[in-house]
Amino acid sequence: MTTLIKGGTVVSSTGADRAEVLIDGERIAAVLQPGSDIAAAAARGAEVVDASGRLVVPGGVDVHTHMEIPFGGTFSSDTFETGTRAAAWGGTTTIVDFATQYYGDNVREALDARMASAEGNCAIDWGLHMIIGDVHNDSLKEMDLLVNEGITSFKLFMAYPGVLYADDAQILRAMQQAAGNGGLIMMHAENGLAIDVLAEQAFERGETSPVTHGYVRRKELESEATHRAIQLARVGAAPLYIVHLSASEALEQVAIARDSGMNVFAETCPQYLHFSLEEHLDRPGFEGAAYVCSTPIRSRAEGHQDDLWKGLRTNDLAVVSTDHCPFCMKEQKELGVGDFRAIPNGIGGVEHRMDMIYQGVVTGEISLPRWVELCATTPARMMGLYPRKGAIAPGSDADIVIYDPDKQWTISVDNHHMNMDHSAYEGIAVTGHVDTVYSRGSKIIDGGQYLGRAGDGVYLRRGLSQYLQ
Ligand code: URP
Ligand code: ZN
Ligand code: ZN
Repeated sequence: MTTLIKGGTVVSSTGADRAEVLIDGERIAAVLQPGSDIAAAAARGAEVVDASGRLVVPGGVDVHTHMEIPFGGTFSSDTFETGTRAAAWGGTTTIVDFATQYYGDNVREALDARMASAEGNCAIDWGLHMIIGDVHNDSLKEMDLLVNEGITSFKLFMAYPGVLYADDAQILRAMQQAAGNGGLIMMHAENGLAIDVLAEQAFERGETSPVTHGYVRRKELESEATHRAIQLARVGAAPLYIVHLSASEALEQVAIARDSGMNVFAETCPQYLHFSLEEHLDRPGFEGAAYVCSTPIRSRAEGHQDDLWKGLRTNDLAVVSTDHCPFCMKEQKELGVGDFRAIPNGIGGVEHRMDMIYQGVVTGEISLPRWVELCATTPARMMGLYPRKGAIAPGSDADIVIYDPDKQWTISVDNHHMNMDHSAYEGIAVTGHVDTVYSRGSKIIDGGQYLGRAGDGVYLRRGLSQYLQ
């Protein structure tokens, strides 16, 4: 079964050109010159899809999601089934989620349990990182085995004392292990011990509302942790990937490290580019709880959002992921009424990443190829999935999005597909729309209809990060 997508502009991380894409089974067979003899021959016997006036881009690769994870006394509200379906609606065809070893847990058992939750339920292809929440000799040894089995990245937490927190000794040991086995350390860089002191003091002063979350998770504590993680990575001779970076000062640390030649990389997320402490986290009553996530949404007056867009241009921010970690307001975020510390941390956005970053193309913050690079190509390379994912090229999986660059619409809880009772993006008017999505050659979204199936997504054994120099 072959399909020829013609009439569109094929966008890659390096440019945009009129081309025809031939899909054969699950793979891209060829990218052809429009009107060429080969293209004409390919059209014979193929299903021909007209992409006139639209962009043809690689399926999005979101390397930071949390489906159905236990957090703050509840579970994130998307299952692998609902969350990957929502991702597909938004033009994302690959996710890399996390298995979590909590304190006292065995890494292998935690991984097996997570595999069992995802297996057979995902609508799109998926992989896993491993969260090492208890660094000791056994978990370090396990890291070596996992790298050989296609789990090549490990998240550590400098935040959340008593839950997932790793101290400097543990971090250094894990980094040394990664230096030896080729794995990539992903770091949640916030000084959690200091944050907890400030949080307790604020609570005792009677400051209980959601915005307090943003005040106590100070930018200095993100940049301090980022700096410390970088220095530990220097000592441990390990590559480092800072997750969900939100503060200008943390970005500055990443830029300094990169300028010194280190293998330090960073991601940010749409919420840090589009939302602010003033307009969102500080909404009246309990409304701001929808925007409670860590690292926090930062102040617009301080200019973090502008700096992050700049970081996306300079490549000090190389990846946009979502950190999709949805919670409903009812019975979930509401756990923190009267105590901001009990609000489950996370925002659901797996469906909106491609559109929200495309707004940067619309406003001139980034170029069209950079959009593809940030949302598909670099995340695939960073996490050892390229060129199977993140590219429209012969031999790559036929994960393709046909994107209408001009359609205007408004995001709402009434039209999203995530399992949430609200949308942090409610009322945002966007230009650009995912029309058609192919996952390994199968059309899974078309004409406003979902055509995929839970379980069609396959598990991805990943290689080592392709950015290590
Ligand atoms: O608020 C967040 N980021 N929730 C998910 C857990 C994490 O730290 O990534
Ligand atoms: Zn984190
Ligand atoms: Zn996360």
